[in-house]
Parts: sequence; structure tokens; C-alpha cells
Amino acid sequence: PVLVVDFGAQYAQLIARRVREANVYSEIVPHTITADEVRAMDPAGIVLSGGPSSVYETGSPTLDPGILELGVPTLGICYGFQVMAQQLGGEVAKTGNREYGSTAVHLAGDGGVFLGGQPAEQIAWMSHGDSVVRAPEGFDVLASSEGTPVAAFANDRLKLYGVQWHPEVKHSVHGQAVLENFLHRAAGIPGDWNSGNVIAEQVARIRAQVGSGRVLAALSGGVDSAVAAAIVHEAVGDQLVCVFVDHGLLRAGEREQVETDYVAATGIRLVTVDAREQFLTALAGVSDPESKRKIIGREFIRTFEAAERELVAEAAADGEPIRFLVQGTLYPDVVESGGGSGTANIKSHHNVGGLPDDLQFELVEPLRTLFKDEVRAIGRELGLPEAIVARQPFPGPGLGIRIVGEVTGERLDLLREADAIVRAELTAAGLDAEIWQCPVVLLADVRSVGVMGDGRTYGHPIVLRPVSSEDAMTADWTRLPYDVLAKISNRITNEVAGVNRVVLDVTSKPPGTIEWE
Ligand code: XMP
Repeated sequence: PVLVVDFGAQYAQLIARRVREANVYSEIVPHTITADEVRAMDPAGIVLSGGPSSVYETGSPTLDPGILELGVPTLGICYGFQVMAQQLGGEVAKTGNREYGSTAVHLAGDGGVFLGGQPAEQIAWMSHGDSVVRAPEGFDVLASSEGTPVAAFANDRLKLYGVQWHPEVKHSVHGQAVLENFLHRAAGIPGDWNSGNVIAEQVARIRAQVGSGRVLAALSGGVDSAVAAAIVHEAVGDQLVCVFVDHGLLRAGEREQVETDYVAATGIRLVTVDAREQFLTALAGVSDPESKRKIIGREFIRTFEAAERELVAEAAADGEPIRFLVQGTLYPDVVESGGGSGTANIKSHHNVGGLPDDLQFELVEPLRTLFKDEVRAIGRELGLPEAIVARQPFPGPGLGIRIVGEVTGERLDLLREADAIVRAELTAAGLDAEIWQCPVVLLADVRSVGVMGDGRTYGHPIVLRPVSSEDAMTADWTRLPYDVLAKISNRITNEVAGVNRVVLDVTSKPPGTIEWE
């Protein structure tokens, strides 16, 4: 792999993704990794990430100096570039020339192996207070900017490279080419990692882990659990059985998508548990958001456990017990819980509102090395329905936390209708790629006056909450075109009985969360 050394902030994950976009497998490691540990991983290359610190502050994150002596091609970015400069005998200083944002960078000469082929002048994204003021001995200075005399350097003999700007950020116009030059030309790593060989590798791994044992998976209707189960099915066929709990808080068409389209595409054995009445009964009279979440989580566990017990008993009677449980854990969850490439300390992650902690199964996690966009690519490769593969994030508690007030069957039907209109219109307007997700919220406890024909109406408002985001940690409200908003508003107020007003949420996150509850 290519190791991405994480110096903090959010850059490491983005770098790891960009490296993979160059068809090179990457893994994130903490900056506390030792040279011996790196050697044991036998990386083809190393990228040192940016970070929020200053190299000459006490307590700032450091790097085992032995790592730069391993002979592994290494690229330092921003803080990583400065760490490299300092360790190799260059000089880093606070020059007072802080650069932040889009910045013009000039190549000195032809750019050499590392920056060759790049334009003589380019716009790059900078974010630094300190600067490298003198390159280490034996290094060529390849670029500069107005505020930074040494904006990039290279030592082809040692295969050490660095840039002050952030090539992983889209605002750096030629950033991906900088990374690819490093990977393919300077480090000589071929771009041969793709979704096809990820599937083949996972299939082999799952077969080795599972043998002839039976496997259980819970489907949520979302992309992660659907792709995870599909890979496992590819590996062990009918040793896998899937459980899908219909808690009645799903959106229009989602159950059918799983029961009909997904099953047709995969041939998976599916058991649907219809728990709609059970959830409605449990939620009756409750309008406090946290209580609703707790009830939904608890009922989900109960329902899943009951189905699980039945299937386990059935399999045991058959002589091949269920010993494994599929989880759609993704790489960001592994990294954020400090899991790295090991197996310890993984946050139990799920899409469905909480699986019990004491499950007596060994976990099968075919997606734990993958980012979300890679999971989608693999889903497509496996022939899963586009409606599932492209599905936007949807919370486990579902529409239950998108009704402000008590959840009733009637309100769920109304919200489902409005949500279906919003989804259809956003898709028709070609806006799906721009939108991370668009919760549609029913303010069931609010009534406002309207007029229809000759009479007054007393209806509920529907809130549109379209957001753009990279990872749901922060988000901005999406500037939807007025004509699309007008069409949505028109259709909802005309077609959905009981709704007489459509309002738009224009709050970013923070301070607003994406969901209303
Ligand atoms: P917030 O509302 O905290 O949401 O900005 C961030 C992201 O998480 C989703 N979300 C959930 N997902 N179970 C889930 O699986 C939940 O209980 C839950 N609550 C929020 C939300 O849709 C958004 O993508």
C-alpha cells in the first residue's frame, strides 16, 4: 500500500481517497508509527499529511526520523512538507507571510520528475502560517509563491518530495496530477487497484474466514449493508441469509426496492419482518425526539433478535449453525475509532438503529477498507439496482425523526407522499449529485392558516432541508434553483392533503444539524 501518515485535521482521509482515485491502494496510519512498523508494512510509497500545528511548537506531532531513511518514496504535504524540511536539515520559520486559500504558484524550471508537465503557473490551495525558508541540502526547489520561497522541493536520488500546497483539495487545479506524478512517475507505482480486484480479494478473504459456516446479515435498505451482503453472497452463496426489518418508518418504495429489485439482482435469501404495527404501537403518544430514538432502537433490537433466534435455531437443526454476522463498517469508521489496519477497538457501526453488543457472532466486514464512493462503485460492479447504490444517507430511525411531534400512521403516509415528490423532482432536475441528502420534515405540531378555493385551511408545514456536504460533519444548505423549489412547493401543496405550506431550511451545520430531531 501507500501509507498516508495522519498529522491531524481532516486531510489524511481526503489524501487517501485521492491516492485511490489514482488506482493505488492507500491506508491511513497515525504519525506515531515507527520506522520498524513502516518497514514491516512494506509500503510502495508514503504521503505525509497536512495538520493544524507548527513544527517548532513544543508538543507538535513528530515523525520517527528513521522513516525518511527507509528508501521508501515519500511525499510531504503542507505540515508534512515542513516536518520533512526540518528533519532533513532545512529551515522552517514563521515569516509573517500567512497564505490561506487559492494562491498562485510558479514553477522554477521544468519541474523535474515530480512536477514535470505542470503549467509554469498554477492556482493551488494553501493553508499555512509557517514556511520552509531554506530547502535541505541536496534538494531542488521546484516552485515558489509570493509568500513562500520554497513551495515545493525534490530529491530524486532519495525519492523525497514535498509541496507546501494541498494537492488533495479540489481548489488546487492541478492537484490530482501532482499526486499522480508522485505516485506513478517519481515512486513508480502502477495504477492497477480497482473495484474489480477489490471484489475478488474480498471474496477470497470471506471464503477463508467463513468456510462452510452460515452467515447472517441485516439489510437496512441503504447502500452499505446492501453491498456488504452482496459481496458475501458472491463469496458463499446460500450460506448467507438476510433479515430486513420493515419498521414502517421507511420511505415510499424502499421495501419493494429491497424485496424485489435487490433480491432479483443478487439472488439473496431474504427474510422480511413486518413490524410496522409493533413500532407504531410503541411510538404512540411520544413526541420527545430522544425518546422516539430510544424506542425505535429498542424495538429494532427486539425484532432483529427474534428473527435471529428463529434463523439460528433453524440452521442449528440443519447441522450448519450460523456463526457469522455481516457488518457494513466503512474505512472512515475504522480510522476514526483508531482501528487502523488492526482489528482491535472498532466502534460497532451500523445503519439500522443499534444492534446488540453481545451478539454471539464473529463479524464479517467486507467494506472495512473502503470509502463510501468505492462502496458505490463496487455495488455497481456487482449489478445492484441504481436506486440502492446511489441512495443518499438516510438515518436508521427513518421518518420517525422527521415528524416533529407524535408519529402516527396517517402522518407517516403524508410525509412519505411529500418526500417522494421531493426526491422525484430533485432527480428530474438533475440535482442528485449536488445534494448530500435532503431530509423532508413534517411539522406535525404546527398548524398555519392557508386558503384553498373559497375556504380557509388549517394545515401543517413541510420543511425542505437540502444540504451539500463531504462527510455530514459539516454541511451547507444547497442553493436549489427557484423554479425547482416552486415546482416542489406547488406539487406538495396540491397533492398532499393536510399540507398547506412548504418552507426551506437555510441553516448551515454547524449550528444546525442535518436532521431536525
Ligand atoms: P445530523 O442530524 O447529526 O446528521 O447532522 C448527520 C448524518 O447522520 C444521519 N443520522 C443518522 N444516521 N442513525 C443513522 O444511521 C441515526 O440515528 C442518525 N441520526 C442522524 C443524518 O441523516 C446525517 O446524514
